[in-house]
Amino acid sequence: MDEMIESSLKEQLVLNPPEGFSRSANISDPEIYRRSEEDPEKFWGELSKNIDWFEEWDQILDWKPPHSKWFLNGKLNASYNCLDRHLQNKKDKLAIIWEGEDGAEKTYTYGELYDATCRFSNVLKKMGVEKGDIVTIYLPMIPEAVIAMLACARIGAPHSVVFAGFSHEALAQRVTDAKSEYVITCDGYHHKGKLQTQKEKTDKGLEKVSGVKEVLVVQHANNEIDMKPGRDVWLHYLLHGVSNECPAEPMDSEDTLFLMYTSGTTGKPKGVVHSTGGYLVSAYTTANWVFDLKDDDIYWCTADVGWITGHSYITYGPLLNGATILIYEGSPDYPGKARFWSLIEKYKVTIFYTAPTAIRMFMKWGDALPQKHDLSSLRLLGSVGEPINPRAWLWYYEQIGGKRCPVVDTWWQTETGMIMITSLPGITPMKPGSASKAFPGIKAVVLDEAGNEVPVGKGGYLAIKNPWPSMIRTVHGNEERFHKTYWSKWGGDIYMSGDGARVDEDGYIWVLGRLDDVIKVAGHRLGTMEIESSLVSHPAVTEAAVEGKADEIKGEVIVAYVILEAYVEPSDKLRDELKAHVADEIGHIARPADIIFAEDLPKTRSGKIMRRILKAITNGEDVGDVTTLQNPDIVEELKRKVGGE
Ligand code: PRX
Repeated sequence: MDEMIESSLKEQLVLNPPEGFSRSANISDPEIYRRSEEDPEKFWGELSKNIDWFEEWDQILDWKPPHSKWFLNGKLNASYNCLDRHLQNKKDKLAIIWEGEDGAEKTYTYGELYDATCRFSNVLKKMGVEKGDIVTIYLPMIPEAVIAMLACARIGAPHSVVFAGFSHEALAQRVTDAKSEYVITCDGYHHKGKLQTQKEKTDKGLEKVSGVKEVLVVQHANNEIDMKPGRDVWLHYLLHGVSNECPAEPMDSEDTLFLMYTSGTTGKPKGVVHSTGGYLVSAYTTANWVFDLKDDDIYWCTADVGWITGHSYITYGPLLNGATILIYEGSPDYPGKARFWSLIEKYKVTIFYTAPTAIRMFMKWGDALPQKHDLSSLRLLGSVGEPINPRAWLWYYEQIGGKRCPVVDTWWQTETGMIMITSLPGITPMKPGSASKAFPGIKAVVLDEAGNEVPVGKGGYLAIKNPWPSMIRTVHGNEERFHKTYWSKWGGDIYMSGDGARVDEDGYIWVLGRLDDVIKVAGHRLGTMEIESSLVSHPAVTEAAVEGKADEIKGEVIVAYVILEAYVEPSDKLRDELKAHVADEIGHIARPADIIFAEDLPKTRSGKIMRRILKAITNGEDVGDVTTLQNPDIVEELKRKVGGE
């Protein structure tokens, strides 16, 4: 409630982009919006010229809802566009600056990154990877993660990157769904000073998978590992004697560039399929316009390569633009809570893109930490992954950006591939807490149940009314889910994002959060069903329901209601065991903050859990009408338990 009051008060606040910034911004003329609206296809067609094509496309768009094809019959290669085309002018320019958690440093110029990628591609070929084979990449934040992605793209093998912090189960599920025969992992890495035994986790996951032919292992932490004969190979062995030239495979514009698994409303994550041509045009354009990339920028996106943000705005968008990117392996509070600020100072970072959870955490750690560091190199700040509350926005703007850096609050999703709602830093007046307006070429609307646009100030479903180049092509192996999840609400040609939003009197969009059974914990996207199925897979549990509870730092945390088998006694030990069970099955990001042992759950007469009521109980809100419940008494009992009685 406080947050809502705060949001409506701060809504009055409008900040113009700093004048100096606007003068030299890549996009400084608001005309761009009108031009894009006049003819969105032509608009994207013109932008496609910023990408190098081996063969020109002959049609911009084929839109047979919900299927779109962009830049038809064009041939190109993503790796070529990120590397080869920069060799003439930027061979010696830094592409990657990497810093390990232990302070180790490594850099790659564009020339070196090209060599490393070609050699990696040749290793993949040696292993037998062919065009069209899906390669799973299970690597932490090390340069090899980016190199592996580019190497796959170079030979036309779609990659499926699995977040290194995900569990062995999550890996197994994704490798199986993708029918991936090749997996790239590493021996280990460090997180907050502690060794993470990645290879061990990989082995455990792959025990449950059939059909994996080879596992390529990057040596990183130098920890002892088991190598399975006939399956596992060291990257550094295979690199011996391989050529640093590898031709970039001409791919059709619509060939798959990658899969990215993400959580939805069922127990199983879905493989979002992204194509090549459209995706690259979107990634190039948004990185250039939203982050205002210039030749001398040092750009740092703190996301993990295992998420879509890492794909579009660590790897593809910035490298397509020939930018210098910083990659940091570790966490923000190791060895001290000022690690990010010292990195910005050390590398003179100019563009910084992070998540609201991180910003709220920094805010809590106090102003003194950033103040001790020289952050004057910064010229633009970005936010992504969850709604940012005005207070955190202002803190970011004042304490980190020194009031001279525009803040771009970027709304988008795994499925959209590109930033969809944002300010353009040189032209859009900023309203703290609002992601502003649709990116040029995008028609974002807020609709009611019937598909009509809602009046100003009223909440509704955030939807996209026209196709865009980097839109999801399908759900891997599950067309039906693709249709049902995104396109079934209003007749087939309007994309439903799953988010709620409202539009204010100036046409600014205020994203309110998810409307479906997806929760965002510290910006990480998790399906409640996924966590519930993990809980019921524990022998002590008969039924489970999971809800998101508002949290000052993380946006939301997970509260799980668990009904135990009749013979099981509830205990704190069991509570810890269940938390650990979920972390082990999905990953530590899914670990419930609280487990409530319940006798029953609020259910309708037909036995369906009333999520609305459970959500209200979880958040201490008014539960409203309970007369439709078969067991209204349970509401008071659960309220008492949530309240800690
Ligand atoms: O709820 C929205 C939230 O993140 C969801 C997409 O999650 P994911 O696919 O993991 O991608 C995250 C990174 C692009 C959205 O449905 N979200 C993302 N950015 C914002 C946001 N909510 C509010 N404001 C944002 N800027």
